[in-house]
Amino acid sequence: MFSKNIQNLKTSPVRELIPYSKKSKDAGIDIIHLNIGQPDLETPKEFFEAIESFGEKTIAYSDSSGQKELIESIKKYYQKMNINYENDEILITAGGSEALLFTLMTLFNAGEEVLIPEPYYANYNSFFAMLGIKVVGIPTKFEDNFKLPSKEVIESLITEKTKAIMFSNPGNPTGAVYSRDELLMLNEISKEKNIFMISDEVYREFIYDGKDTVSCGTFIDNQERIIIIDSISKRFSTCGARVGTILNKNKDFMGYILKLCQSRLAISTLDMIGAEALYRCLDEKYYQSVNRKYMERRDFLFEGLKKIDGVVLNKPEGAFYCIIELPVEDATDFSKWLLGEFSYEGSTVMLAPAKGFYQREELGLNKVRISYALELDRLEKAIKTIELGLKKYNNR
Ligand SMILES: Cc1ncc(COP(=O)(O)O)c(C=O)c1O
Repeated sequence: MFSKNIQNLKTSPVRELIPYSKKSKDAGIDIIHLNIGQPDLETPKEFFEAIESFGEKTIAYSDSSGQKELIESIKKYYQKMNINYENDEILITAGGSEALLFTLMTLFNAGEEVLIPEPYYANYNSFFAMLGIKVVGIPTKFEDNFKLPSKEVIESLITEKTKAIMFSNPGNPTGAVYSRDELLMLNEISKEKNIFMISDEVYREFIYDGKDTVSCGTFIDNQERIIIIDSISKRFSTCGARVGTILNKNKDFMGYILKLCQSRLAISTLDMIGAEALYRCLDEKYYQSVNRKYMERRDFLFEGLKKIDGVVLNKPEGAFYCIIELPVEDATDFSKWLLGEFSYEGSTVMLAPAKGFYQREELGLNKVRISYALELDRLEKAIKTIELGLKKYNNR
């Protein structure tokens, strides 16, 4: 009755444990959500002020390509990084999610291949499955903090069906940040093999310890093949305002994306008005203060988890995620047990089992992804809960 592709959709590992939390919730147990990448910082007031001063009597459809003033402000935001896109090289979408979907719809026929370092953001899978795109995982190693393998290894995975290399940098779920050299290597491959490069940069502001990386928008020798995916969700703590961006200099590609944008008429006018004010009013000072907050959380989490017997992790370099190895055989079973059978001082923890982020699921069996977009006191409690939970689980 339903399409084959739709029946292939998997449940997101971020949400798969929600049914198991019912028992704890009913028992009044506080659940600390380490599973979700939802920033808890306040949305800057400029967003709300701009919407409050919206003077129109009717909320009309905006332009399909996005509100002009917003495009202008995004252009300036990129110019500050010495990246130049013209107005018609920027299209506004309903979140980075729609930007990704439209990009994949435009590039791929069913059966064609996307190259992607694994583990990767699990929601990509829904788009791949929906469109019949075959995923070819680029192997990376947990022990190596998910660095890219050599050019030769990546090239050996390319076939005549490969259409694009896709990745998020900084990485969800890994927290890894690709160095400038790693990105240059991907750029070389993209040029030499004539394949697109989809660079998901929604965590761009969350890079720690001054790690040397760049936006792929700076690779001006390959701009027709480089597609930047962007979003305000994480940058400004505005996940519920659905505003994303596609940037690219290939006129044909952008022409097709515009047709897709027209087919859904427009995105939320008010969200774009708020987003425009954020891009226009906030500057480096804001980005740095947010960055410092997440870095503090990253350090706190890393130091705390590292001390737990049997827990192995790398120091995350960016975004607000990390993958940790647990001293258990099956991290999904442990995560379910934590939710259903264990609490510490009235709280328990929801984790995201890592196997759902891998193409080769066995690599993630004893691992979970943790999101640290939470206050330090919540993180402290979560770390203690994991520590005591592991002891009890392994002594059952
Ligand atoms: C790597 C990555 N890309 C894209 C998105 C999509 O974000 P949004 O649709 O909220 O812009 C997310 C959200 O978590 C993400 O982690």
